[in-house]
Amino acid sequence: MALGEVQINYYDNIAQIYDQTRWLTESVAEEVADFILKLVCATPETSFLEPGVGTGLNVLPFVKRGYSVTGIDISEEMLDQFRQKFNETPPNLKLIHADASHLPFSNHSFDVVMTVHMLHTVSDWRVFLDHINRVLKPGGFYLNCQWITPPARKELEDYFRAILAKYEDAKQKSKHINAVIKKIDVEEYFHSRGSKSNYFVAKEWIVKNTVKELLSFFRARAYGLCWQIPDETFKIIMNELEEFCIKHYGSLEEVLSSKAKFEIWAYRAV
Ligand SMILES: C[S@@+](CC[C@H](N)C(=O)[O-])C[C@H]1O[C@@H](n2cnc3c(N)ncnc32)[C@H](O)[C@@H]1O
Repeated sequence: MALGEVQINYYDNIAQIYDQTRWLTESVAEEVADFILKLVCATPETSFLEPGVGTGLNVLPFVKRGYSVTGIDISEEMLDQFRQKFNETPPNLKLIHADASHLPFSNHSFDVVMTVHMLHTVSDWRVFLDHINRVLKPGGFYLNCQWITPPARKELEDYFRAILAKYEDAKQKSKHINAVIKKIDVEEYFHSRGSKSNYFVAKEWIVKNTVKELLSFFRARAYGLCWQIPDETFKIIMNELEEFCIKHYGSLEEVLSSKAKFEIWAYRAV
């Protein structure tokens, strides 16, 4: 089975726990939306596209404020979670169940295209960026965004990886995922076309979770680094991680608190 297929199918499995296991809250998303609307000098007619829209965490504020929003996602379950945020899908929201590797829109269709944590999932990221350039209106914005993992969570991920590294079967697969992720260079793509990014931190906020909660997210295999590990190995790794956490943090009730960031690399259409 190709790596892409495994990743794509997995979002169907975690759609129901996606929002609770991530750290972008609705109120933070509202503030990020304020920032983006200023950045792109939005008018009431400004239109947004988010390929890999998922459960709509990033674009929900735009929909609520009446902007035209289109989302594409390969996971029907993720789109269903987004739909469930409304009594009825509003007329300014269009959700398309499709592979976003080839964007099914005519040229110059959108004022703003944003992607968040999804470039590694398309079949060819350069072709995908060609599509983004094509569907953007002249002078439109491509916003390559990420919500950086809060350091306390990253630390736990690193402990997980360190234990994982002892198990050959699981390690090989996770190495393959990292190799795929590392090759993407959006900056180089736009630079070679004469466009430079502007970097912004749209919002910083504090995220708090108990160690117990974070371990439960791992146990539910909410994150990509857990997906390809065989069940038996995964159980062993999680037991080791829990034992390690009890010693390291003193208690599973310990609250880990650290700062998250919503980062944006903004490009004008070329
Ligand atoms: C990490 S999630 C990010 C979701 C959302 N952008 C966010 O920030 O919460 C990645 C999303 O991309 C979707 N996805 C993966 N491959 C895709 C593809 N080829 N075309 C469209 N969506 C895809 C997944 O189903 C998932 O909803």
